[in-house]
Amino acid sequence: MNSSAADSAVRPHDRFCLGIETSCDETAASVVKDRTIVLSNIVSSQLIHSQYGGVVPELAARAHARLIVPVILAALESAGINWSQISCIAATHSPGLLGALLTGLPFAKALSYSLDIPFVGVNHLEGHIFALRLEHPNLSPPFLAAILSGGHTELLVVEEWCSYRELGSTLDDACGEAFDKVAKLLGLGYPGGASLENLARKGKPGIPFPVPLQDSGSLDFSFSGLKTAVLYYLQDHPKARPEDVAASFQESAITAVTNRIVRAVKTTGLHTVGVTGGVAANRRLRDRLKLLAEKHDFRLLVPCPEYCTDNAAMIAAAGIERLDRFGPSPLNLPALARARLG
Ligand code: KG4
Ligand code: ZN
Repeated sequence: MNSSAADSAVRPHDRFCLGIETSCDETAASVVKDRTIVLSNIVSSQLIHSQYGGVVPELAARAHARLIVPVILAALESAGINWSQISCIAATHSPGLLGALLTGLPFAKALSYSLDIPFVGVNHLEGHIFALRLEHPNLSPPFLAAILSGGHTELLVVEEWCSYRELGSTLDDACGEAFDKVAKLLGLGYPGGASLENLARKGKPGIPFPVPLQDSGSLDFSFSGLKTAVLYYLQDHPKARPEDVAASFQESAITAVTNRIVRAVKTTGLHTVGVTGGVAANRRLRDRLKLLAEKHDFRLLVPCPEYCTDNAAMIAAAGIERLDRFGPSPLNLPALARARLG
């Protein structure tokens, strides 16, 4: 299916992009002006999954279908603009839960068709990279980016906007997934990353959990051994203080991440590092990264927590850049559960 919408150019005088994100359990919409000016950023987190200890795909899709219209209307209202002022629509098309993607993506295509404006499909991971640009509009490649989310852990070089070279990724669990699984072991709700961080603040990080792949020299990540070490520790020490376990796990997980980042700075010679994705909202990680940035002389960029976790402003920002570089996406662009960057 092709349309005049897909072929039409962006009107230069009104660069308002509507971003739509529905790849997992956040229904999000945002209006971004001129690449980086966020006029609205509405995120509706689906609380229903907490009782199941993880995202239930069918429930996520149904919740997106219910929420997508009110969330988009709220984004327009909060931005103070109407439908006729929107010049393009960007939506996540990969990677993610298929049923979830298949709510926001067709919705975005239908809007683009009916409003006769361009549609752009965005890779969710690329969105996380563009979250860095929202607060640093003058950021320019090349730079290093670490994406630490619930589904992905990637270290890459942004060689050019929309052009990436992968340096490493997780061999098993994603970093946020490890936080969530350990939070579950500690009886915290889902998603558990932020609760684990709160608990860890009250504990002492004295338990020597392993730092995965510490001496391997590789730029890949691994978190499942660390998670299993916490499981065995809890089985062997039923009276362990949960706050100490949380603090100790957190230190090891953060060391695993910061090791790779410092190694990547040294091997690439790049001295600008962006750290993004849900786990980048972690204060302890941010503090430790700041110290390392001073010690190893790199410029550290971490988005505000609101832009670290899933949102649609980052999707709109990526979509505008994609539109300028490559033009609109075809309206038959498929939703993909898995997709690499590039
Ligand atoms: O980027 P994101 O919102 O969604 C995905 O693309 O996956 O990341 C969500 C992940 C979850 O695993 C969540 O537990 C984790 O980020 N997270 C945190 C914190 N806030 C969110 N992990 C550690 N500390 C936090 N403060
Ligand atoms: Zn994400």
